[in-house]
Amino acid sequence: MIKTYKSDEIKACREASKISSIILDEVNEIVQEGNSTDEIDRFCFKRIKELGATPAPLFYRGFPKASCTSLNHVICHGIPNKNKILKKGDILNVDVTSVVNGWHGDTSRMFKVGNISIKASNLMKVTHECLIEAIKVVKHGEKISKIGKKIDEIANLNNFSVVQDFCGHGLGKKFHENPSIVHYYDPYYDSIKFISGMIFTIEPMINIGKYNSKVLPDGWTAVTRDKTLSAQYEHTIYINDDKVEILTESPKGVFYN
Ligand code: MF3
Ligand code: CO
Ligand code: CO
Repeated sequence: MIKTYKSDEIKACREASKISSIILDEVNEIVQEGNSTDEIDRFCFKRIKELGATPAPLFYRGFPKASCTSLNHVICHGIPNKNKILKKGDILNVDVTSVVNGWHGDTSRMFKVGNISIKASNLMKVTHECLIEAIKVVKHGEKISKIGKKIDEIANLNNFSVVQDFCGHGLGKKFHENPSIVHYYDPYYDSIKFISGMIFTIEPMINIGKYNSKVLPDGWTAVTRDKTLSAQYEHTIYINDDKVEILTESPKGVFYN
């Protein structure tokens, strides 16, 4: 069963989504050489609170921090750490989920530290394109598998690979719920359709090398097995009749940094 909501029921979800996007706009200023990923997390925690929300990750299934910070070959769920110091050439995903009145708004973006390699820059650009083009596929009645088809197509064209072990998800009053939104083509999702009123994320993770991942002994940090760079962008989406709304679109617009 996929939950659906009327537009006037999701005010708090819109608010949570907006807060998450504003915080990512602000994070841009502090992703700088010499700062630790823990400093970025403390900034996110402070701003989420100041804006009247709470951070969903904190203590979620035992996760110890308010945000996820995934550096270079970390695919997702990187744990902010005071000993992880940013250096020139790094690429970092910061993933923020704010909660307002129980409603979640989940978004992530890539940031660069100083000048980065052309390869890393291209990976970020292509990953953002995967997200934006996948959003364009969404409409009431469309097969959910179309998302993975589109992302596979773009990633393959660029000789990158699509992570399979982590996926997008329905959300609302829960952080993660049905349906799963996989980012590669899976015929199982030919039979599941998008419906008006649903809220979900699309959050492709794209690797320069192979798609294979593993989770480190901390139980969270997912990395590429071949240690190649990985990038991710995420938006929370709402299907409002024939409109598709990006709830986590920044007031400044959509960009990939
Ligand atoms: N925000 C992540 C997502 O996109 C989930 C993080 S779960 C956590 O679904 F516990 F690591 F925070
Ligand atoms: Co998510
Ligand atoms: Co997220």
